[in-house]
Amino acid sequence: MKIAVLISGASGSILSKRLIEVLNDNHELFVVASDEAKWIFKQETEEEFDEFIRKKKCKVFKNSDFSSPLASGSFKIDAGIIIPCSVKTLSAVACGYASNLITRCADVCIKEKRKLIMVVRETPLSPIHLENMLKLSKIGVVILPPMLTFYNKPKNLEDAVDFVIGKLLDQLNLHNNLFKRWE
Ligand SMILES: Cc1cc2nc3c(=O)[nH]c(=O)nc-3n(C[C@H](O)[C@H](O)[C@H](O)COP(=O)(O)O)c2cc1C
Repeated sequence: MKIAVLISGASGSILSKRLIEVLNDNHELFVVASDEAKWIFKQETEEEFDEFIRKKKCKVFKNSDFSSPLASGSFKIDAGIIIPCSVKTLSAVACGYASNLITRCADVCIKEKRKLIMVVRETPLSPIHLENMLKLSKIGVVILPPMLTFYNKPKNLEDAVDFVIGKLLDQLNLHNNLFKRWE
């Protein structure tokens, strides 16, 4: 699949890192990270984002690069994933305010009726956040917050992260054994 991995400045860099690691070998990835996302990535993973992504096969674009193919509906991708998704980026997407490449790519996914998954990360959630999520969900965007899992008895943060990534891959119909399913 051709997948846009769009990384905004919410907490949860480990989620984008794991998603890229899982998809890197078998899929064509187009990656964009906001400045805030890169800063938080360094804080949370103790690794520079640019160093991490340099070792991967992905095509990487600046968030200001509107000449990127991701900015145009004529460039076909199979899915866009905002992971993690800040409530600022959520708000921009909900309003069609495409002021950077991440929000433009999401806007293109919506207008072209392509799969868009948003891993919105904030707590607690205000009525503004909830209304923005509802608005997008009603038009087919998948709102997939990084929820904790309990029934499959995670032993550590990695297990909890793999549950979220596994549920996300399920949305793309990508077979995975990242978490123990309920039998
Ligand atoms: C350490 C840190 C953690 C943050 N965590 C969140 C978060 O979990 N969710 C959120 O919506 N914003 C969070 N923010 C705020 C966003 O980074 C901020 O709103 C930023 O402008 C988002 O920009 P972007 O969506 O263009 O990346 C955090 C900021 C910092 C510095």
